[in-house]
Amino acid sequence: MRCVRGQGDAWEGCAEGAPAGTAAPRARARRCRRQPGRAADAGEGAVQAGEEVRRGVREGAAAPHDHRHHARQGPHPAARQGREGTAGTEGTAGTAGTEGTRMKIGCIGAGHIGGTLARHFSGLGHEVVISNSRGPQTLSGLVADIGNGVRAGTAEEAAAFGDVVVVSVPYGRYRELPAGPLGGKIVIDTCNYYPQRDGHDAELDDGTTTSSEKIQAFTGARLVKAFNAIYAANLRDRGLPRGNPERLAIPVSGDDGEAKSLVCGLVDAIGFDPVDAGGLAEGGRKHEPGSRVYTAELPAGELNTLLDTGS
Ligand SMILES: NC(=O)c1ccc[n+]([C@@H]2O[C@H](COP(=O)([O-])OP(=O)(O)OC[C@H]3O[C@@H](n4cnc5c(N)ncnc54)[C@H](OP(=O)(O)O)[C@@H]3O)[C@@H](O)[C@H]2O)c1
Repeated sequence: MRCVRGQGDAWEGCAEGAPAGTAAPRARARRCRRQPGRAADAGEGAVQAGEEVRRGVREGAAAPHDHRHHARQGPHPAARQGREGTAGTEGTAGTAGTEGTRMKIGCIGAGHIGGTLARHFSGLGHEVVISNSRGPQTLSGLVADIGNGVRAGTAEEAAAFGDVVVVSVPYGRYRELPAGPLGGKIVIDTCNYYPQRDGHDAELDDGTTTSSEKIQAFTGARLVKAFNAIYAANLRDRGLPRGNPERLAIPVSGDDGEAKSLVCGLVDAIGFDPVDAGGLAEGGRKHEPGSRVYTAELPAGELNTLLDTGS
């Protein structure tokens, strides 16, 4: 069963998460797919695993921040197309459910992933406020580099600003998040649990719960797990227009169907195929570190197959 984009802008098949606080049913992974079928079909395209994967480089060993490098890269190709009204236009609009809607997006964490998403989303025309733990004054270089009207604020300000808030910090620091302003908001959780970096969390070590469920419980947010299973460099560089057989897929999981649908639209808008991995409890486990799909960097058909055959 596939997730499709309906006559409006919703990603219909994504709107099937388990209700918050209930046990998640076994969910089959579905590729979120637009109508009419312009996107690549299951199994299409060659697998192009990222260089990091081939080299066996771990996420934590990603290159240090180099904003000048990002500046040289210029805007993301998918983002550029979106602004120019070609391949990315519909996907951009789909993020808010209305063609051309400009969203307010807060980013808590402005590193490899948070900074890259801020760059993509602002490149698509969304209003973006970025934040880190050291304060907005430390983000002037990144703000200048990204341009596009991106502003820096505190984490509290980014949380309060965003209709959608990206949380992209080391998992071990989630208790520092501004739970108040995040409550009830759509939050995109990119965080992964690495005990060697984050310290041990007994509930995660014994599989009682998942990192995303803990962040959801702490913040009271409408949390969607996404962008956690792709290397930052690939997220930055490998977005492609819809229909390209080499377009990579990104697993998305969450218990709030409307929130998940919106995030699927954002994934598509920056050049990746969203794949619905189910609710947070099961779906999240399927794309956590150690799972088969984690940083596998696959097109949608192959990612779906891996998700369906277990983590
Ligand atoms: N790197 C990857 O390829 C990759 C891929 C997928 C998922 N992830 C996951 O995504 C998350 C972010 O990874 P990353 O590589 O982007 O990390 P990173 O480059 O180290 O950046 C982390 C960011 O979080 C900020 N931060 C830390 N504590 C904070 C707090 N309490 N409030 C506000 N901001 C805070 C940091 O700000 P300061 O510098 O001021 O402390 C920094 O901007 C991690 O959970 C990681 O496991 C990473």
